[in-house]
Amino acid sequence: MFWVCGNHELWIRRGDRAKYGDGSLGKLAHLKSIADELGVKYRPERIGDVWVVPLWSWYHASWDTEPDVVGAIPIEKVMMDFHACHWTAEGVQAGGDDSLARMFDEMNSESPEYVEAVARIREDRLGDSGVYVVSFSHFLPHQDLLPEKRFLYYPNLAKAVGSDYLGRRVFEEIRPDAHVYGHTHFTQDMMKEGIRFVQWPLGYPKEQRRRRNGGDGWGPLLLWDKASGSSEARSTYWSDYYRSNARRAHDTSPAPYVVRRRSSDAGGGGGGVGKAAARVATSNVTARFGALGV
Ligand SMILES: [Fe+2]
Repeated sequence: MFWVCGNHELWIRRGDRAKYGDGSLGKLAHLKSIADELGVKYRPERIGDVWVVPLWSWYHASWDTEPDVVGAIPIEKVMMDFHACHWTAEGVQAGGDDSLARMFDEMNSESPEYVEAVARIREDRLGDSGVYVVSFSHFLPHQDLLPEKRFLYYPNLAKAVGSDYLGRRVFEEIRPDAHVYGHTHFTQDMMKEGIRFVQWPLGYPKEQRRRRNGGDGWGPLLLWDKASGSSEARSTYWSDYYRSNARRAHDTSPAPYVVRRRSSDAGGGGGGVGKAAARVATSNVTARFGALGV
């Protein structure tokens, strides 16, 4: 089993603050020690014909290069990270710049195992066409993996989900056969620049039921096996949508179902939402304190 850290793990509840002297980074060190005890891997490793490459990352707002939706709630007001993570490293702050994204990205190049893996993956590919490379991260390496802002209940989610540093690792350094990511809870299975990008969230029971269209037969996704190679791409709502629709980021008028949902939330009625609306507007789980739990 492999693991890479996301944002939720680094939240520190009020009662736990004394436990981690170094804030969220102290908690990360603690989590790594638990992973070591359990034999959970968080460094790149070749297992048989497969390279598995965990990529450390954090988001930064400047990753979002698409036009904003006027009047959208600032993400700092709804996302728990800005209250529950504590950063003590010098020069590092949440929001406002890319210091956190840079710090997490450097965890990759500071790892001798990572540096060695990058070199060995290149060699292996030259000498062994049968090798399969899968990298994974919690956050997103490219904005095309996030639905456009007009489809999002919280359009400014785009400012807290992705990293250009991660993008360079994926698209320029590793060039995996597949990259798996999480955080946004939008199910995806799509190709981009010759790389298969997969998000397959199975975390929350409610979310599972919604994404399974009833729940039958949808469990973990097999990406590759030795006998048959890479598995077929699965049909998902957003992958299918973007296979046949170009991205129109300049259009920042909220989609009708987003407007209806907002109206409904504001007590204005507006009726129910359709299937697509349910997929989008409820994809971001509202966690306690009314904050966004991605
Ligand atoms: Fe997350």
